[in-house]
Amino acid sequence: MGASAAVIALGGCSNDPRPQLLERNETTAATPPPVGDTVRFAEPEALQSANGSLEVTITASPATITHDEHTRYGYTYNQTSPGPTLRIRPGDQLTVHLENQLPEDTNLHTHGLHVSPEGNADNIFARVRPGETRTYRYNIPDDHRGGLFWYHPHAHGTVAKQVAAGLAGAIIIEDDTDAVTEIADSTERILILSDPPAVSSESGLSATPMEQMIGRQGSGVLVNGVRQPHITANGGDRERWRIVNASSSRYYQLAIEDHPLWVIASDGGRIGTPQEAAQVLLAPGERTEVLVLPSTSGSYALRALEYDRGDVGMGGMMGGSSSPSPEVTVATLDVTIAAPVKAPPSTLDTPDLRLLEPTATRTLELGMAMGGMMGGSMMSFTIDGREFDADRTDIAVKLGAIERWEITNSTTMDHPFHLHVWPFVVEGVENEMGWKDTVNVPAQDSVTIVIPFVGMTGRTVYHCHILDHEDLGMMGVIEVFA
Ligand code: C2O
Ligand code: CU
Ligand code: CU
Repeated sequence: MGASAAVIALGGCSNDPRPQLLERNETTAATPPPVGDTVRFAEPEALQSANGSLEVTITASPATITHDEHTRYGYTYNQTSPGPTLRIRPGDQLTVHLENQLPEDTNLHTHGLHVSPEGNADNIFARVRPGETRTYRYNIPDDHRGGLFWYHPHAHGTVAKQVAAGLAGAIIIEDDTDAVTEIADSTERILILSDPPAVSSESGLSATPMEQMIGRQGSGVLVNGVRQPHITANGGDRERWRIVNASSSRYYQLAIEDHPLWVIASDGGRIGTPQEAAQVLLAPGERTEVLVLPSTSGSYALRALEYDRGDVGMGGMMGGSSSPSPEVTVATLDVTIAAPVKAPPSTLDTPDLRLLEPTATRTLELGMAMGGMMGGSMMSFTIDGREFDADRTDIAVKLGAIERWEITNSTTMDHPFHLHVWPFVVEGVENEMGWKDTVNVPAQDSVTIVIPFVGMTGRTVYHCHILDHEDLGMMGVIEVFA
């Protein structure tokens, strides 16, 4: 068994581009959407580049955050969670002044961006102490692909806690594909999925050793910081949803009632031929871009279906050690006026990346063992038997190499594998997936990726994106040299 396909096709490859709408449930259709107490879909503020640059100050600080009827203690960027959306274009310079008003170190990572990992660019080894400000400057290459990326803290040891507490924001790189009629014609929405802990103070943000080993999950799911928002559309609209899993550990097996999802991008990469899917699995760190094409009026739930990402194993020695994500309603699509369904684009004119020819092969093994050293854990989380050491370089690659990495997961739980800076292609999947930077490696399975190490040199990391596992040591250092 090779890679897990993030996209599950509905009834194979049909040449008919129109989605097949399933039968509506009459009882549901007759129920009017709740009006008075409906939470409206809302997006973070967008900051747009102009004349080739975007310069912003982003302050990380604790706050009492209100959503629906609840308040909780958490972390914010500029007093909001998620933080502002940064909209830039290939060739732009992005400058972020990160001001740390947290009670601990933080820093900034631009997840998925093909930018330098050195100096004051995407350097995750640098730390910003409480009270300090650090200026990050990113030069986006002229040929950077368009897509949805995101920013979050990456100060080793506190990443899971800070992201779960609310520190995440979207980065959009716009490109010419956005001008394709069927896409330009659509209503674009960003959905940042998170599951923060419902706590009232700083001490509530820390997780138990067991929660860290499983990967912490909050009790509810939020979209752009609110619970179960309603999105309103008309039949015949094209809804374009750009979704990021910004949870520390929770997986989202997404499906919307009575509608297929037309996948047009994965992580930061466009797919040449839009793929009709019944469900899309988003592991932590992953993104997808889908078209939803409503027709019949009614209310349709966007759900995360139950997904079992395994357990910490050890022959049941650890009680309460499994990690199912129970089914949860994420949002609701309210379709008001019925009209004939519109077609998705038939092609997005993106090269098929499955044709890359690797020049070298490497194997990596994601492992867990009794007796940990990091974070007071009872178990160690490793790559190739070693815990993370910022001073050790685990993999050295010459610029220009195209490497095939066979990533094996010898443990009893899933681990989403993520590589900074250099996007990759997943080998052996039936459906075209586009560029990826994060891929789920299922328990006791393996995934093969092909990575062209081009465009950028520097030293950075690859790791499990269950962020507690990264904090516990499931991370390695790679250096690409000229
Ligand atoms: Cu989304 Cu190394 O991170
Ligand atoms: Cu990253
Ligand atoms: Cu993991």
